[in-house]
Amino acid sequence: MENKRFDEIRKTFEKDLVDISDINVLNDLKVKYLGKKGLITELNSEIKNIPNEDKKEFGMKVNELRTIFNDYYDSMKEKIEKIELNKRLENEAIDISLPSTKINVGAPNILEKVIEEVEEVFLSMGYDVVDGPEIEEDKYNFEMLNIPKGHPARDAQDTFYIEGEEILLRSQTSPVQVRTMLKGKGEVPIRMICPGKTYRRDDDDASHSHQFMQIEGLLVDKNISLSDLKGTMDVLFKRLFGDKIETRFRPSYYQFTEPSVEVDITCVNCGGHGCNVCKHTGFVTVVGAGVVHPNVLRMSGYDPEVWSGFAFGFGAERLAMMKYDINDIRTFYNADLRETQVFDREDEE
Ligand code: DAH
Repeated sequence: MENKRFDEIRKTFEKDLVDISDINVLNDLKVKYLGKKGLITELNSEIKNIPNEDKKEFGMKVNELRTIFNDYYDSMKEKIEKIELNKRLENEAIDISLPSTKINVGAPNILEKVIEEVEEVFLSMGYDVVDGPEIEEDKYNFEMLNIPKGHPARDAQDTFYIEGEEILLRSQTSPVQVRTMLKGKGEVPIRMICPGKTYRRDDDDASHSHQFMQIEGLLVDKNISLSDLKGTMDVLFKRLFGDKIETRFRPSYYQFTEPSVEVDITCVNCGGHGCNVCKHTGFVTVVGAGVVHPNVLRMSGYDPEVWSGFAFGFGAERLAMMKYDINDIRTFYNADLRETQVFDREDEE
């Protein structure tokens, strides 16, 4: 075998291996020369035709050719990989002049946030936060709150009935007062608030929703009067809306409190100067409350000659609407994520 053959093969691969930019093409070339039927590999099969004395030299030459090919291959591979890496880096480079994509992060539900704030105020005054069932018995939702069957007060609290006339979706959180007293078995003091869902057969509009949240409160102890309620409401609303907020009572009527009051607070919108929100009175009504009616205490096992208490209830949406300047209660229930942006804005300030 003459050197010519070796030179030929070497020249072809030297030509082949120039200017390759694709690693697959390079690997195909490796197969072409060093694969099972590769040009260099096949030289080995010719060894049987070589005279014995030349066999050693022939073998060495094949190996030399293989080494040279591999050296070419390795340096080419390194070159291609470098080029590809640079290309990738270029593509992946961050263009800091581009506007960023805003990442939307979650935010607490506004209603939950307001409820938590109320809970914090009451927890700091030694109240418990309790729970009650949304599917309620007529007995707790009405009767034991001094609203017997046929009482006209029921009209304003028409609700959804689950089974017959006895099982319903609670129209107020007030039944939790009864449940708490029954559970307390005459023990005092009772200091509880209960935030929770309530339902009414109302047509939905900007200020009505067939589902809404109330926060109920009850305190039972000795010698409790309206002035204790006044102080408590004062603390609550000053903590929620600031020290400038004042509370005032107006006489009202509820079946389960006597006397009953509406609690007004300084209009948060205008600071009490008068605006559309407060119908130019400087005050808005936020809570229904009163001194617990003796019948209610008695029916739940507390002797009204010994014990007295106050109770209150208010809508959580109403507070949230005042706090976050929302003018439609349906905002809370239509799953519009923009609602949470109220918090984004608050966080940015
Ligand atoms: N449950 C009443 C309602 O839904 C609100 C209320 C008024 C609750 C007076 C009370 C209360 O505890 O004492 O309209």
